Formats: sequence, structure tokens, C-alpha cells
Amino acid sequence: MTKLLHFLNPEMAHSFGIKALKNGIHPCYPSVDDARLHVKLWQGTKKERLFKNPIGLAAGFDKNAEVPRAMFKLGFGFVEVGTITPKPQVGNPKPRIFRLSEDKAVINRLGFNGGGSAVAHENITEFLRYKKQDQMLGINIGKNKDTKKAADDYVKGISMFGALADYITVNISSPNTKGLRDLQQKKDLGALLQAVQKELKKQKVSPPLLVKIAPDLNETEITDIVDVVMSESVDGLIVTNTTISRPDSLQSNHAAEMGGLSGQPLFDLSTKILNRVHVLTEGKIPLVGVGGVSNAQQAIAKFRAGASLVQLYTSMIYEGPGIAHRINKDLLAFCEAEGVKSLSELVSA
Ligand SMILES: Cc1cc2nc3c(=O)[nH]c(=O)nc-3n(C[C@H](O)[C@H](O)[C@H](O)COP(=O)(O)O)c2cc1C
Repeated sequence: MTKLLHFLNPEMAHSFGIKALKNGIHPCYPSVDDARLHVKLWQGTKKERLFKNPIGLAAGFDKNAEVPRAMFKLGFGFVEVGTITPKPQVGNPKPRIFRLSEDKAVINRLGFNGGGSAVAHENITEFLRYKKQDQMLGINIGKNKDTKKAADDYVKGISMFGALADYITVNISSPNTKGLRDLQQKKDLGALLQAVQKELKKQKVSPPLLVKIAPDLNETEITDIVDVVMSESVDGLIVTNTTISRPDSLQSNHAAEMGGLSGQPLFDLSTKILNRVHVLTEGKIPLVGVGGVSNAQQAIAKFRAGASLVQLYTSMIYEGPGIAHRINKDLLAFCEAEGVKSLSELVSA
């Protein structure tokens, strides 16, 4: 099925996939349920969350929150929907997703296409009627292209979704919305996070608040981000989004397309940034490692670099819908072979 979808252009294949998932046309995998895969975060606080397994679906696959239920049936331990913008938005002109098959990579310049927060809210509310307690739902929020004061859109996102999410992700790292990544600058980030925290207080809700960052940051920028997120009481970081860099190793004809690169060629860069952030945060806040994960070894490398949880998207395009299930089975086999009692043992000291 995965191979057949590759006969369609990537965006059509994606729409087709979402339709199939929505209609229950997908495999279901028995849940790999074992305490060694459980990850408990924010322990002993009112934000405590138990993740049944550490493999999550990264943002961007289910932008309108249409299929979280199906994604849990595929074996993901958590699902992050979005990025959701307040108003509906068509995104950039097509074509805007490119498969770099030789590189097991994708370049996208979608530009936050989506139905907007009202549509996503309706879908999430419907999902919550059936949601099991151990199905962790992350909601990733962003801004519309034409919004001048970015913070206003994130505040809207919080007021709409703060009460519905197991965690909220503030996405300031997609490369396809002009000026978005500038929100990672120290002053802008501080002001943005203060506005977001103020709205959470106003709504009297306290979901864990995560910030998702880019891989294209220098040492000063990383240090600045870490300083701000620690001083603004952010609960975690998602490291990383897609890269605007193009490694020399790329083979595909599409390598020069504009947009964010994801998949295998992002693995090393995103893992390096992850480790740097882990060192700078001194392990005080949990990190979600994302970028190029396609198997258990790569997931383990992310844990060793400092991630408590891992997410993936691009490898599902190449390896199919059983990927989360497979990685979890292999992680369990690894725990068995190495006598690991909990994956948290691997998170580098
Ligand atoms: C087609 C596509 C769309 C994406 N859209 C979003 C998005 O809306 N918001 C976001 O935070 N990340 C988005 N991402 C980035 C992923 O969440 C992830 O950070 C990145 O792809 C690296 O992981 P991967 O190598 O496993 O794909 C998108 C990625 C792809 C491939």
C-alpha cells in the first residue's frame, strides 16, 4: 500500500491516506504494552503525564486533527496534531511537497495549510469523546501568514485549545511562514511566552507547554532560547523542526526545492542540536527528539542524546503505517537483551 501511494504525487497520497485513516481503512496493531516503554513526565506535579510508549507522531501529518484515533491504533504512544492557525489558510502554491526517495527524505513548503481553529476544535472535541486516558494528545499552534502581531494568534490558540490538550506546542520553527523563525530571537520569544503564560493563567488551565525549535540555530541562538524557556517556565522543548540546510550527501533531483528538509538527512543535525539543548538545560526539562528517526537504534540514539520522547513523520512515508509498532517492538527487544528496566535509564546523564 505504501509503495502504491508513491505512484501518486505526495500531496494526493497524503489526502488519500488521511481519507483511508478517517474511514477506518488501515491496519491495527496490538498495543506493545510494557512498563519498560512507559515514560512519566512532570512527575509529582499537576502536569504529570504518562506516555504508554515513547514514539509519537510529529506535527504536520494531521494538521486538522482528523485522525488521532486511527494513529493510536497504529501504535503511536502520543499524537501531535496541527500546526493549527486561528483562521483557515490555503498555504503556498502547489506543488509544495517533494519526495527525495533516494535520500529517504522530504522537502515541504506547505505554509500552514489547514482548516483553521474552528474545524480543528470540532474534530478534537469529537475525538475527546472516545479518547482513552493513556492516549496523549499534543496540540501544536501557530500563526496565520497575514497576522502582524504574532502573539495574538498564539494567545487565540491557547484560549481555544489550552483546556483540551495533554500538552501544547508553540511552533516557532516552521521555515515556510515568513518571519516565524524570528520568534526564536531572545526578545521576541520572551514576549511571546509571557503572553502565552498569561493566557493560560486567564483560562485557568495548565497543560505542559512545549516550544518547538529549528535545527538551523547557532550556539548563541541555542543558548538564548534555553535561557528564555527556562526563565519563562516552559515545560519542555521539541527538537527539531525541518531544516533549510541541504547536506552535500543529497542525491535526489528535488534537493534544490525551497522548503524544509526532513527524514534521514536531518537525523545527525537534529540529534546534535538535541544534545546541545540537553547539556544546556542540564536535563531539567524533558526534550522530545525529532528528525530522521526510522528505527529503534535511531530512537535509542535520540534518548542517549537527551530525549525523553521521540517523534517521527517522514519515515512513515517510506516505511509504512506499521513503523511505530515496529520501533516499539524492537525497543522492547533491546530492553530485554540489555536488561534495561526503563527507557529513562538511557537518557544521557
Ligand atoms: C509534510 C510535512 C509537514 C509538516 N508540517 C509541520 C507543521 O505543520 N508543524 C510542525 O511543527 N512541524 C511540521 N513538520 C515537521 C515535523 O513535525 C518534524 O519536525 C520534521 O519533519 C522532522 O521529523 P521527521 O524527519 O521524522 O519527519 C512537517 C513535516 C513534513 C514532512
